[in-house]
Amino acid sequence: MPSLGEPRALFDAPCEGGASAVHTEDKRVHVKTFGCQMNVYDSERMGEALGADGFRNTDSPEDADLVILNTCHIREKAAEKVYSELGRIRAMKVERQRLGRDTVVVVAGCVAQAEGAEIIRRAPVVDLVIGSQSYHRLPALVARIRAGEHGIVETEFPEEDKFEHLPQRADPVRGKRAPAAFLTVQEGCDKFCTFCVVPYTRGAEVSRPVEQILAEARRLVAQGVREITLLGQNVNAYHGRGSDGRPCSLAMLIRALAGIEGLERLRYTTSHPRDMTDELIDAHGREPKLMPYLHLPFQSGADRILAAMNRKHTAAEYLALVDRIRQARPDIALSTDVIVGFPGETDDEFEATLEMVRKVGYAQAYSFKYSPRPGTPASTLDSVVAEDVKAERLKRLQDLLDAQQAAFSTSLVGRVLPVLLERAGRKPGQLVGRSPYLHIVHGDAAPELQGSIVPMEIVEARANSLAGVIKGL
Ligand code: 5AD
Ligand code: SF4
Repeated sequence: MPSLGEPRALFDAPCEGGASAVHTEDKRVHVKTFGCQMNVYDSERMGEALGADGFRNTDSPEDADLVILNTCHIREKAAEKVYSELGRIRAMKVERQRLGRDTVVVVAGCVAQAEGAEIIRRAPVVDLVIGSQSYHRLPALVARIRAGEHGIVETEFPEEDKFEHLPQRADPVRGKRAPAAFLTVQEGCDKFCTFCVVPYTRGAEVSRPVEQILAEARRLVAQGVREITLLGQNVNAYHGRGSDGRPCSLAMLIRALAGIEGLERLRYTTSHPRDMTDELIDAHGREPKLMPYLHLPFQSGADRILAAMNRKHTAAEYLALVDRIRQARPDIALSTDVIVGFPGETDDEFEATLEMVRKVGYAQAYSFKYSPRPGTPASTLDSVVAEDVKAERLKRLQDLLDAQQAAFSTSLVGRVLPVLLERAGRKPGQLVGRSPYLHIVHGDAAPELQGSIVPMEIVEARANSLAGVIKGL
């Protein structure tokens, strides 16, 4: 992402290019995931659906009979990056063909949704283009391709609910499931911020029914999961059908999930300020399993720009919201998304953005230079801010955000925090976990403690993580 502000890396950034996968003796699949946590979740579900159909994971695309690119459209030149990746896959497919092995190539995710048949026209190596609402059809579509079909485009929003048709969360192939899991509860967005492609690629807001979510959560917990992050493009607009048939809010869903024994921690992301209801804010004060961390994008500190972005809130309303959230949960750590250089943004309006950051104080933030996305209303605006001005603004913003992030991490040194130990560290004898505030925490710990929440004294704040020592076990 050369010209965009990179996510700060203290917490897991959206895992661009992260590979996950699934596979069998004779059929192997490699899933390469770009973008946000929802794509990570979707890749897992696709892998599990194919797993039920006899495919096994491989981390190396060269060994894969099926390669899936699960793409993201939110970054600049997203489609171009997919085409260049497809160029590499084409060369690999030719090489495999020479050895008498075929490779099925699938493009999934938001670029698939946005580009549709154009992908097959520009990259004939692609056998299937599939939108995110059709993943339950993947095994059947792949079978059709393996039987000789080519060039299938499946980007309609189908009638049926994909979640009803996907297999249950599969038992992990090797050992236990990681103790922290994602669970998508809501998809799509009706907000139509003028800079954003999501309402076009992911479609209208849809919420999963409560019982479906509870069943998936119970299954994850039975497989060893202790922490669940509820996902949605606009997760706090969640309004799924409750067990009694009536609409259920995110706060009600959180309460129901908190009742699951063995599930110790809950988080949710991403939220829109307009949908932070009093009920949800109260939940932060009342529900101990809800972690004290909230990602709440504000995008700009200037009301004129917020209106041009169609954000539906002012700077003062956002600040008042933060006050209410902090009253309910004084230790809450906030993170945010900010865009600099939206068309027409003046120096003073950028200063208002810096002022907002100073007033709120963030533990973590993702900041971006505005760049036009094809098809969005803002892309037709011509009062473009010069690249060098955008770059300079981004630098000033990131310096401020870095300083706030470092100050927050340093303030935790000497404190004892409950840390969920998630995985083995790089160094022998070390485990890596998460603080309640979503920091990565490294520390010496016996391997059998993986999956436990242990008290750790924070002894050092590093650039992208904390170091801790287990206390009183
Ligand atoms: N330009 C810059 N940043 C963008 N984002 C979304 N669209 C654009 C764009 N056109 C950022 C927003 C959003 C985050 C996921 O990506 O800050 O919250
Ligand atoms: Fe995009 Fe705005 Fe919806 Fe977030 S709320 S997904 S930025 S349209």
